[in-house]
Amino acid sequence: MDKKDFYYFRARFRRYVARFISPDPLIQKNIRLKADHTKRVCENIRLLARAETLGEKECCLAEVIALFHDLGRFEQFSKYKTFKDSDSEDHAALGVRVLKESGIISHLPRKEQHIIYKAIEYHNRMQIPAEEENEEVVFYSKLIRDADKLDILKLITEHYEGSGTSSNPALELYLPDSPACSEAIIRDILNNRMANISDVKNINDVNLLRLSWVFDLNFPETFVQLERQGYLEKIYATLPNTEGVRRVRTHLKAHLGAQKKERN
Ligand SMILES: [Fe+2]
Repeated sequence: MDKKDFYYFRARFRRYVARFISPDPLIQKNIRLKADHTKRVCENIRLLARAETLGEKECCLAEVIALFHDLGRFEQFSKYKTFKDSDSEDHAALGVRVLKESGIISHLPRKEQHIIYKAIEYHNRMQIPAEEENEEVVFYSKLIRDADKLDILKLITEHYEGSGTSSNPALELYLPDSPACSEAIIRDILNNRMANISDVKNINDVNLLRLSWVFDLNFPETFVQLERQGYLEKIYATLPNTEGVRRVRTHLKAHLGAQKKERN
């Protein structure tokens, strides 16, 4: 795997995405959203891979995973008009299916194909099934999960700051903007656990869930980026000033502070 392979795959990816160009502005907007997201996740994963001092071949493999990680999103949105997996289908499994059927990566060594398919399949799972997989699959799955989360945080914080895409209900998963915050999600964060999507009932909850991603980030460089971009602060600014939210904020600050100390 080298840069030439990546460029070839990128050309195939672009051709695939072009098939979803639609006169419907809602579809068009969300196809573009995911194409742009993919581009930035490729940049993120290279950044993380380099920080982990991976060689050029491994960086290219990581980038190919990023390129195809959301392949299922395009068919998902044009078919179901939503990015919500529970209302449509698992976009990771759909992506793997599309990629396998296309045969795009079938000339690669089996081992690389396996890593790519598995990392895509696991990128949106609650947990990587580490006990069932080899070290490399687990490593690349962690890389794509971090690179993906960094961009989702960028996208939604820009959205709230008003500098990103204008109001787009697909980004908020069509959730109501009601004032409550899920007790279960707050409890998860205070217990250093990633929250569960099934507890998300409104926009506050989805933003609390995004805060809980802190417990599912894997690489030191991801934490460096998180802090540098001020993503958590930007999310706190969208939440109501309740006792629960204040506790979450204090807790995460202490947790990240301790972790940073350990790293240095
Ligand atoms: Fe995804």
